[in-house]
Amino acid sequence: MGCAQLIITTNDTPANAGTTARSNLIAGNYNRFTIPAKATVTAYWPSSLTNAGQARPRPAANSPERGLFLDAEYQQVHDFFAARPHRQPTPLRDLPGLAKTLGIGRLMVKDETGRFGLNAFKLLGASFAIETLQAEGALSSGATVVCASEGNHGRAVARAAREAGCQARVYMAADAAQARVDAIAGEGAIVVRVDGSYDDAVRKVSADATTHGWTVVSDTSWNGYERIPRLIMLGYTHMMEEVAEVSDVVFVQGGVGGLLCGVASWCARHAPERAVVSVEPTSAACLLASARAGRPTAVTGPLTTAMAGLRNREVSPLAFESVRSTVKAYLAVDDVWAHDAIRVLAQPANGDPAIAAGASGAAALAGLLAVTRDSSMDELRDGLGLNSDARVLVLVSEGVTDPDLWNDVTGETLGGAPDPHGGPGGIGAERGSR
Ligand SMILES: Cc1ncc(COP(=O)(O)O)c(C=O)c1O
Repeated sequence: MGCAQLIITTNDTPANAGTTARSNLIAGNYNRFTIPAKATVTAYWPSSLTNAGQARPRPAANSPERGLFLDAEYQQVHDFFAARPHRQPTPLRDLPGLAKTLGIGRLMVKDETGRFGLNAFKLLGASFAIETLQAEGALSSGATVVCASEGNHGRAVARAAREAGCQARVYMAADAAQARVDAIAGEGAIVVRVDGSYDDAVRKVSADATTHGWTVVSDTSWNGYERIPRLIMLGYTHMMEEVAEVSDVVFVQGGVGGLLCGVASWCARHAPERAVVSVEPTSAACLLASARAGRPTAVTGPLTTAMAGLRNREVSPLAFESVRSTVKAYLAVDDVWAHDAIRVLAQPANGDPAIAAGASGAAALAGLLAVTRDSSMDELRDGLGLNSDARVLVLVSEGVTDPDLWNDVTGETLGGAPDPHGGPGGIGAERGSR
């Protein structure tokens, strides 16, 4: 990774943009990847926030404002998981101590760190897509499936392919962390390192699949390739179906926009008064850039972030087209905020449960920390209604994927502390996967 300074440029009016430095954190910041120790947060919201949390007339069933999917598709994904009772829901954890500290009414964490025996939410999409394709006869056992990944999607595809009797090839950026490569290879997949970034890997996968007749199982879409990413995003919506509790604001990680689209679509159809907020790393904030420009817009410059799952320059066009109508606000946070979130989850105060999360996994909480603690975000905080009545849902989308980073950020030793949940995605499992 490079060591260039992160420069945030914003063309917004002061009313809907905020960028600030938080120097009190800088001294303690972990800087292993020579990521600049700044603590900026930038926000963009396309429309008035004054109606956040208030009931509005419901748009027509097929309107983009109701999200990407139709009722029959939600039924399909419901039936799929209902028929697989071994696919158990992930826990919803309450963090009352942190809620009090942040001045909100309730903080719930959807803890994806042990999803279906892997340590990220991604198998929701990969297993749903691969098994659906098999059931349709579009994928036979023995076939080769391919994808590009920064780690989690590749691992999920590798696992789902193995379970379906298929081969998997996963293309990764040249500088992908070795722990992530090992985790994918450990699922029996062939890992191909591409000379370039994740986005270069996406293009290489597409070209190689055409040459060899492989099936691309991509979580991002492109022109003429939408069916499988759509299935994957539909699979992600099951996460929200599992959450019985009501929330007013939901913070979600933004990578290519697939998870965001799944969550925001589900909310738009089932709980439209809920405000969905996207959170990305500053150097890879392509959803924010695209929302601001009103069309898919790639970001340039060094991708200086340890939030590896969110480290892409380009949005999924299918996802972006949908989230434009369903997402309330877009945040871009520096890694310092994600480090804060990792620490807060690992070492909770006031009896809250401990959660061992990776940097991408902690990113949504990083967004909530930034909005509630950084004074440049006051207007957004008030617009979202983040006050003592607010019920907030935060997704923790992965467990520890880079143990060295987690150790350095928390000052603890991975494996030295007991696995807080004893589950497959906790500390013990991650140690075993290395
Ligand atoms: C842990 C984690 N969270 C969130 C995301 C974002 O998902 P998407 O790229 O679909 O926006 C990813 C993507 O790989 C991820 O690995």
